[in-house]
Amino acid sequence: MNGLRGKSDPVVAIVGATGAVGREFLALFGERGFAHGELRLLASARSAGGTIEYRGNATGVRALSPEVLSGVDLALFSAGGSVSKEYAPLAAEMGAVVVDNSSAFRMNPGVALVVPEVNGDVLDAVGAGGAIIANPNCSTIILMMALHPLRERFGMERAIVSTYQAASGAGAAAMEELRSQTRTVLDGGAAEPKVFPEVCAFNVFSHNSKVDDLTGRNVEEQKMIDEVRKIWGDAGVRISATCIRVPTLRAHCESVHVTLGNAASEDEVRSALSEAPGVEVVDDRAANRFPTSLRASGRDAVLVGRVRASGDAERDGAGRARSFELFIAGDQIRKGAALNAIQIAERMLGRA
Ligand code: A2P
Repeated sequence: MNGLRGKSDPVVAIVGATGAVGREFLALFGERGFAHGELRLLASARSAGGTIEYRGNATGVRALSPEVLSGVDLALFSAGGSVSKEYAPLAAEMGAVVVDNSSAFRMNPGVALVVPEVNGDVLDAVGAGGAIIANPNCSTIILMMALHPLRERFGMERAIVSTYQAASGAGAAAMEELRSQTRTVLDGGAAEPKVFPEVCAFNVFSHNSKVDDLTGRNVEEQKMIDEVRKIWGDAGVRISATCIRVPTLRAHCESVHVTLGNAASEDEVRSALSEAPGVEVVDDRAANRFPTSLRASGRDAVLVGRVRASGDAERDGAGRARSFELFIAGDQIRKGAALNAIQIAERMLGRA
């Protein structure tokens, strides 16, 4: 049994508390009535001494150091890969269960990579003492919320996904860059890229992660492929991704072409999705009302719509097809990051 199970007042540390995901942890704690004992808000030395409003109180922010991790039961890390690499193993050694939002440990064979609705059962195998659990990449989580129920019901032969990713995936500074560039351009000025390599406002561009010379895939695309395979525990999953940034603030959209193992009707696909926990079908053809980044922003549910058989899909005698198109929108900061990590923690605590 893991060391968090049954704890009603865990000592919680939020590493990266001043960031976009860090602040969302606090909002979600409030909304969900997440019970905890002492709460340590940690960030870089730049933020030490400042405060963050939490449950009506101005709560102090401290600089991350080995000492402030002592006695922590649950550590939620969202301060980037290099901070996680240095401090997450330390926190785990000191007895904390770490839920790490960075990519630092995701592909480590000894680290569980978890979307609770998909493979939450792997958490039941985590033993007593400290541990690191990895939160998957935001685009991976949002994609899996839609693909998993379809794979469970009909099997899946292949998926091809194109993303439309918000600035929030690159943190609070990137969101601010989008806001300020938008103002600059509307005022007739020229936007200067700083956080992103390209101008973000009024622009659409290939994901800012490094591109592999040999495969042509960027790191984000490779993460989606590798992480989907790890979460399903199937190295043979056929999946391909194209990751693109768009000038939206905080919800990612994804267009998916999926080939199922067995033929299904549109209604069967829609009902598999609507019965899945954490998924909401938004698919009103008459009103042209479908998932949008704004409709998904601030929501826990991943929205799925535009459900339709592919234009070139072969139909069986009953009109069923195996190839479908879907359009998904999910809040990158919520289900793509903070919410998924809190759901992992809730399951570890035995509250979910
Ligand atoms: P700070 O605000 O002090 O820089 P985001 O993902 O929105 O960019 O947020 C990143 C978070 O990670 C922020 O809370 C940031 O704190 C924190 N952070 C960045 N570098 C460090 C560091 N070296 N030690 C601790 N926290 C860090």
